[in-house]
Amino acid sequence: MKILTIVGARPQFIKAAAISRQIEKNYKSQITEIILHTGQHFDNNMSEIFFSDMNIPKPKINLKISGGNHGAMTAKMLEGIEKVILDEKPDYVLLYGDTNSTLAGSLAAVKLKVPIAHVEAGLRSYNMNMPEEVNRILTDRVAKLLFCPTNIAVNNLKKEGITEGVINSGDVMYDISLIFKEEAQKKSTIKRRLNLKTNEFILATCHRAENTDKKENLKEILNALENIAKNFTVIFPVHPRTKKLIEFYNLDSLTTNIVLIEPLSFFDTLALEQSAKMILTDSGGIQKEAFFYNTPCITLRDETEWIETIELGWNILAGANSKNILQAFNFFIDHHPFEKKYLPYGDGMASKIIIDTILIS
Ligand code: UD1
Repeated sequence: MKILTIVGARPQFIKAAAISRQIEKNYKSQITEIILHTGQHFDNNMSEIFFSDMNIPKPKINLKISGGNHGAMTAKMLEGIEKVILDEKPDYVLLYGDTNSTLAGSLAAVKLKVPIAHVEAGLRSYNMNMPEEVNRILTDRVAKLLFCPTNIAVNNLKKEGITEGVINSGDVMYDISLIFKEEAQKKSTIKRRLNLKTNEFILATCHRAENTDKKENLKEILNALENIAKNFTVIFPVHPRTKKLIEFYNLDSLTTNIVLIEPLSFFDTLALEQSAKMILTDSGGIQKEAFFYNTPCITLRDETEWIETIELGWNILAGANSKNILQAFNFFIDHHPFEKKYLPYGDGMASKIIIDTILIS
């Protein structure tokens, strides 16, 4: 069987690594995987380093399409991916998550009648202002196999009338968090480089359009981080989009105490997540990695797709509101969550379940 894997943005490299490693290890005689990188993320530490850290095979094709308006970006990708599908004639197109690369892949594949397998199907924030919500709803609508990471995701699809081809596979990111937990600690040098001690620093990230593209929201978030940084070391790896906008809005004065650094490699990220006292983020993946590694998390959004982390007491939604963020921060300083009543993300075998299902379908 020939599978065309389409990736483009940082979180997709992590998810695809779970499947690619599994194919390399156990399914080489049955599956030929071709990896297409749209080029959406292109900086070395947003892209290349993820392939080398996790030993993902090099993409056969890189379309080198990035930046610009969402419509133009998606349209260029659609055109490029269509050509590749016509050339390669895959039996399946494998898509991850909810980025513009995912949407372009789903449109190209469905028009050419190539079946789509969507990993991380069924997630919903119920906020149509997020480009990701639009991308995932459209992709789920046309996918043949919908691999849901949780029961909540299965139920979300049921509410939309989608039940055929829906599988609760567990979360490939949980697989990855287990595989690389120790290796990250061993290989990462970030704690030494920044002179950080376990439990004595806060990790923060912020890159979502809804936070960065509104000056007021970014200001509120930086205000809270700067306040926290007066008493705690706050490490903030800055996404290129956020970096540009902090400068554009003249918000530099709100980052004097925060330790701003370049985006981190995957191993450095996992190492810091495991050792941080708390994480503040608007990333979906980091919310979950915090949960996997038992680090309390404050989410800088008004809603989350990862409701289980909230229900189980390890995550608090604070939005882009300085007062709420500080309140949640103080809560976790006083109350460290200690138990997990259930484990919602599978048993670390999601990638195997996904490949086995694709092979028999
Ligand atoms: C994208 C995804 C988002 C995901 C995020 C992970 C969409 C709609 N959004 O958002 O769901 O959480 O990736 O990071 O697909 N840039 C660089 N260098 C890079 C990457 C980006 O300079 O390596 C710049 C781009 O040129 C652009 C900005 O950062 O100006 C935003 O990048 P873009 O790919 O449009 O979206 P993300 O914000 O990264």
